[in-house]
Amino acid sequence: MTARKGIILAGGSGTRLFPITTGVSKQLMPIYDKPMIYYPLSVLMMTGIREIAIITTPRDQDQFRRALGDGSQWGLTLSYVVQPHPGGLAQAYTLTEDFLAGAPSCMVLGDNIFFGQGLAEMLSEADARSGGGTIFGYHVADPKRYGVVAMDATGKVTGIVEKPEVPPSDYAVTGLYFLDGHASERARLVKPSRRGEMEIVSLLEMYLDEGTLEVKRMGRGFAWLDTGTHDSLLDAANFVRTLQKRQGLQTGSPDAIAFHNGWISRSDLQAIAATYANNDYGRHLLGLLEDGAELA
Ligand code: G1P
Repeated sequence: MTARKGIILAGGSGTRLFPITTGVSKQLMPIYDKPMIYYPLSVLMMTGIREIAIITTPRDQDQFRRALGDGSQWGLTLSYVVQPHPGGLAQAYTLTEDFLAGAPSCMVLGDNIFFGQGLAEMLSEADARSGGGTIFGYHVADPKRYGVVAMDATGKVTGIVEKPEVPPSDYAVTGLYFLDGHASERARLVKPSRRGEMEIVSLLEMYLDEGTLEVKRMGRGFAWLDTGTHDSLLDAANFVRTLQKRQGLQTGSPDAIAFHNGWISRSDLQAIAATYANNDYGRHLLGLLEDGAELA
């Protein structure tokens, strides 16, 4: 099987959150001690994916290049793809058609944070399915804001609705999509919706109709956070801080995961840690050289 490739969609900007300080990409703003994009990047790395395309607005691309470079510091190959106009999540697959070249993919939204016991296993199960698609449903208090899963009485998924007025369930579709090598050619068939976007749910419906879409439930032991409002941004930062302070472990660290996966050497990690000088993050990385890497 061709190796799965990764996509991070970092299309939206921070201007809606902070219109006065325009110019900073939202996904590069910190969530506690790391840029936001480190968290979705870590999810791809935990899946074992090393070839990743980052989709940005034309204006923001330089910022991402400066922040993440070519990825070699983590043993990755990063490419950058511009989305000229925000045209919906399914457009990500047409924009990356050349990059994917028929390979299966895992796409994660640049502002989504995942944490939970068993996440690594869940990712590797989804990765192991070479055909069809896998998405994740998560119980939320406000399903109207998301794509929502419709189920029949037996729990079988019968449909997915984008931002419904009357949600058919409380299960939102998270921003993490494993699709097979047909995603790009199928995305080309997606017609723009009433709001003029190529909706991801239209693409997922093609897999659903074919009977090859698996919807896995992320249970209550998982945290799926988004960062679209001032409050959710601070909540996410507090969540990461509380967890890391209590456990003395890192979450969402590409440096730690690259080391754990054997993609960088001890001396590489040492050099990265040195750039953090005397802060807790740098000290934690140095600690990994002594203890071995614990990942979350
Ligand atoms: C998008 C998708 C939606 C999904 C959500 C997850 O919505 O369209 O189906 O549930 O991401 O974050 P958006 O964040 O673009 O409003």
